[in-house]
Amino acid sequence: MGSGALALSSLISSCRTNQMNGYDEFINTLEQPPLINNQNFTLAASSENYSIGENYQISGFQFNQSYPSPTIKCQHGDRIKAIFENQIGQDSIIHWHGLIVPPDMDGHPKDAISGGAYEYDFLINQRAGTYWYHPHPDRITGDQVYKGLAGFFIVEDEEEKALDLPNGEFEIPLLIQDRRSTSSGEIVYDPSMHEQMMTGFLGDKVLINGTPAAFKDVKKGRYRVRLLNGSNARIYNIAFQNQLPFTLIGGDGGLLPKALEVDQLLLAPGERADILIDFSKFSQERASLVSLPFDIPSSGGMMNGMGNMMGGSSPEQGASFKLMEFKIIDERVGSIPELPKELSVSTFPEEKDAALRRQIDLNMQMMKGHTINGKQFEMNRVDLQVKQGQIEIWEFINDTPTPHPMHIHAIQFKVLDRSGSRGILPHETGWKDTVLVMPGEHVRVIMKFDAPKGMYVFHCHNLEHEDSGMMANYEIT
Ligand code: C2O
Ligand code: CU
Ligand code: CU
Repeated sequence: MGSGALALSSLISSCRTNQMNGYDEFINTLEQPPLINNQNFTLAASSENYSIGENYQISGFQFNQSYPSPTIKCQHGDRIKAIFENQIGQDSIIHWHGLIVPPDMDGHPKDAISGGAYEYDFLINQRAGTYWYHPHPDRITGDQVYKGLAGFFIVEDEEEKALDLPNGEFEIPLLIQDRRSTSSGEIVYDPSMHEQMMTGFLGDKVLINGTPAAFKDVKKGRYRVRLLNGSNARIYNIAFQNQLPFTLIGGDGGLLPKALEVDQLLLAPGERADILIDFSKFSQERASLVSLPFDIPSSGGMMNGMGNMMGGSSPEQGASFKLMEFKIIDERVGSIPELPKELSVSTFPEEKDAALRRQIDLNMQMMKGHTINGKQFEMNRVDLQVKQGQIEIWEFINDTPTPHPMHIHAIQFKVLDRSGSRGILPHETGWKDTVLVMPGEHVRVIMKFDAPKGMYVFHCHNLEHEDSGMMANYEIT
């Protein structure tokens, strides 16, 4: 971004900070998800009525009777044996987002169970990274994620440990999710037709690790913050309110080749980012994490204004939010080693080695909603086949007025380029499994299909779009 653009964006955000959506006061201690630090575990999903902070209640779901869902932490090379118990009274299955596992371990919607247990057994043979898990049944994923089922799945490895990154109390996972409540404080999931077809379900307040109006005490030192946008539809432009720069070290698929200084970070549903932030650089006692306003590029369609006219009671996509606060306590912590210039070594596939190029059209059809290459999801129809071991370039083309964060299972890809003015963003310089395609954009990604043979899905991670059919099957042969 040129300095002109930077100045302009700070100008826009500073004029609008006064009208940010969200809480006036941050009064609840940030919840930390319980930790599962074991290769053998059970995730039991059950229906629970629970309260969220003092003011909200939900008739929702929990994994292992916890909200937020447990964080799973494991090592490269681990063999995971997990049992999913489904006690929620509707079809469900767990998907490990970002992990590369065999087709029957991946949580394909056709493997959903209506009760009983599903056994997972797979090897972690991929790099360290901030991955996550959530249900993946056909048509009701949005409902189940919204009502409480989503957690971190963190993989560690030797390459990352060699960097001596902040850990223990200095490593903070932040699951970011927006929610909407009735006047009596009941958190509900009731997307209108328009929300299903167009915007997705947008909330009017943001929960961090399930905590409304969250604050966290931090010391004057450097922290590693793992950000996960686990919202159904909302995109955040994450920044500190004073726009103090922070260091971006990782994306969806782990460490970036190089650390990058940024002052904002556009994170769409499904995407992750790993940042370092040094609270000794803040002069004030509180540092607010916010989402700065951003524009949705217009694709020139007649439906552009419709989102605003029919968007329901929540602030529109692109609106600014206060997310949470860090309360900086006056205690200095010892300095940590400087980061090396190169964080990690990755050999990305190269364009010249691509055996095939495909166009993936993201369209919108009246009365039908969003489609991929003109079709809505069908559980057993193979939409495209790829050869195992082959390198392909997929070009996502967004011909609709709404943003689509496109996610491919069983792969990590590299973003090659994006049409228009946004270019490749800092968190897109490493491995990715989800990429935001704004209206009118063409985004090309390159990847090598090394996962075991079989059928996987790719889809829009706006969960209302996914649930209304914006998903397709691909088969590795
Ligand atoms: Cu995070 Cu197929 O999903
Ligand atoms: Cu996934
Ligand atoms: Cu979409």
